[in-house]
Amino acid sequence: MRIAVTGGAGFIGSNFVRYWMDTNPADEVVVIDALTYAGHLSNLAGYHERPNCQFVQADICDYQTMLKVLAGVNLVVHFAAETHVDRSLGAFELERQFYRSNIEGTASLIRASREAGVGHFHHVSTDEVFGDLAFDDPQKFHETYPYNPSSPYAVSKAASDHVVRAFAHTYNYPITITNCTNNYGPFQTPEKLIPRSIALLLANQKVKLYTDADGIPGRNIRDWLHVQDHCEAIALVIKKGRIGETYGIGGEAELSNFHLVETMLDIMSEFLDRSLTIENSVEFVADRPGHDRRYAMDLSKIKRELGWQPRYSFEQGFLETVQWYTSPEGQAWLASLSDRTSDVRANQEQVVA
Ligand code: NAD
Ligand code: DAU
Repeated sequence: MRIAVTGGAGFIGSNFVRYWMDTNPADEVVVIDALTYAGHLSNLAGYHERPNCQFVQADICDYQTMLKVLAGVNLVVHFAAETHVDRSLGAFELERQFYRSNIEGTASLIRASREAGVGHFHHVSTDEVFGDLAFDDPQKFHETYPYNPSSPYAVSKAASDHVVRAFAHTYNYPITITNCTNNYGPFQTPEKLIPRSIALLLANQKVKLYTDADGIPGRNIRDWLHVQDHCEAIALVIKKGRIGETYGIGGEAELSNFHLVETMLDIMSEFLDRSLTIENSVEFVADRPGHDRRYAMDLSKIKRELGWQPRYSFEQGFLETVQWYTSPEGQAWLASLSDRTSDVRANQEQVVA
């Protein structure tokens, strides 16, 4: 089998390429990635050099190139996207890049996939397409939950889901879709909460905790899933999921940002051999505009149909993740990208307390 993975030099895509090559060693893998600020070929060190892996630096919006690259491919797993919410709330040149890569890119890619004879297109998406949940809402997101995206990033991903479903409907094209909650693990670009906060602490700086209009810091809740569990779930949906179906994926690990940062400070205190506390290591900063309150995914469908559930407890997965970023390998990786990774909120963040 020959599979193409778009966005395979990014965080989840690179974890997926490594996972797939480890578990399907006879397959040929084509990695397609534009290497934007969020793509790092070093994420695939030890893999992209192998004879059964081909790396193609290309933009998924480039239809003619996609047609050529996808010739002979059986399966496309589509991760490539602009992914950082704060960036989508930045200057319009940044915002429009989300619409371009995530909507136009997906439309171009799925069309090229069909034209090239690819037999299965798997689209990787997010729970942010559903908007947010009230803190006390007993219901969670699920596969038929109404779409109500609330940031340009979420809008672009919602539109990309619609593009894929409409294309499948119109041309009877075989697709599957997954919508997943927040991932954590190695190789995540340090613009996202976990790697950004670890990188700040390693540089003797303070974590920036977004604080709501009522002055409550870190109140927002995310449902965290280890990236390895996400990769296993995607592979299972591809191999055993029903064609045309959507599956929700999540970690069943809802945590407020405040609680997560407290846990991080405990682990990092041991590593840095000094006591890190909310008082000495965290700055409460102005909120993200339109900040989604809470995400959580109901896993009934994927559990019932495919028997999947996360293997990692948050405690274990998070400990291993912090250990990876603070290891010599993790610190070298962070240092290698410090000049490439843009931090849209840096130097603009207003301390509120
Ligand atoms: P990431 O930002 O780490 O990586 C994205 C990759 O896509 C990068 O390698 C980048 O170079 C590449 N890319 C961007 N635009 C491209 C283009 N036009 N053409 C070719 N390549 C391009 O992202 P991630 O966190 O690994 O997310 C991967 C996918 O998973 C995204 O579709 C995202 O919406 C989805 N997702 C992410 C999470 C999460 O918590 N990170 C959760 C659910 C779903
Ligand atoms: O739910 C899935 C989504 O999770 C993915 O689709 C996105 O691609 C991914 O970026 C992630 O979105 P979030 O906005 O939830 O992730 P982020 O790490 O940016 O923020 C997590 C929470 O932490 C959020 O409530 C905002 C807050 N935050 C974030 C940063 C970067 C802070 O308090 N301080 C920070 O410095």
